[in-house]
Amino acid sequence: MAAKLIKGAEISKEIREEITKELQELKEKHGLTPGLATILVGDDPGSKVYVGQKEKACAKLGIYSERTDIPADTSEADLLDLVKKFNADPKIHGILVQLPLPKHINADRVIYAIDPDKDVDCFHPVNVGKLVIGTGRFLPCTPHGIMELLRRSGTTTEGKHVVVVGRSNIVGKPIANLMLQSPPGGNATVTLCHTGTKDLAAFTRMADILIVAVGRPKTITADMVKEGVVVIDVGVNRIGKTPEGKGILAGDVDFDSVQEKAAAITPVPGGVGPMTITMLMKNTLEAARASI
Ligand code: GUN
Repeated sequence: MAAKLIKGAEISKEIREEITKELQELKEKHGLTPGLATILVGDDPGSKVYVGQKEKACAKLGIYSERTDIPADTSEADLLDLVKKFNADPKIHGILVQLPLPKHINADRVIYAIDPDKDVDCFHPVNVGKLVIGTGRFLPCTPHGIMELLRRSGTTTEGKHVVVVGRSNIVGKPIANLMLQSPPGGNATVTLCHTGTKDLAAFTRMADILIVAVGRPKTITADMVKEGVVVIDVGVNRIGKTPEGKGILAGDVDFDSVQEKAAAITPVPGGVGPMTITMLMKNTLEAARASI
């Protein structure tokens, strides 16, 4: 039986409507418009697209945004000065430095320099620590998006076995932590698998909910999942081009075969992807609210 599709594009639209209302309220009651500063170092085409999408989302919702593009050979000291400038700017409530950064810049030092109250990515160690303890204001955007996808598509996590594949700081580690938090966290039993895991399939077959963020196309195949699993595919891999030159995307999960066994699954594109920027907008709103 074909799986139900968890449509991130639709759920994202629903959340953006809620954000729009909250933005209006913030403006009416407090005269406040949230502001997001984005910083792009260099001209990586993928990063340019992502930053452009973030700017567009701000413009559509009525969030003030200020984009700074600086050359790839900008010094770390100059980038740190720019971050400090936005830390001190009252119009700016969220700061996002697009990663990855050029090799001569220490990304950790840049992330540490962002005021934790403006760290809408939730990458600063203070915010990561609060997330682990369960007291954070910000949740990192992609993991937060996954929590909302599950909740709003009617998948309960309570008492379920959630298997996460991939231990990145941006997705794997934070989603594993959110899933094991007591409510409003996932309240699930969590297994975190990674490249050092022996016999990955033995673990993925035990999953009630399988979250995959490995950055390798079609890593999870039908023989690696059990009947009725709910699958969240975070992967966005370019696997070729159409004759018209458009990129062909594939997730980390072999969608065609796995959807035959799954109860529900996110498509790629149109699953997790649209949620990430929406949750960034939500965090910018929360940062502005907290500044009152
Ligand atoms: N590069 C890829 N994903 C992200 C993200 O979520 N935030 C930032 N700042 N850079 C990224």
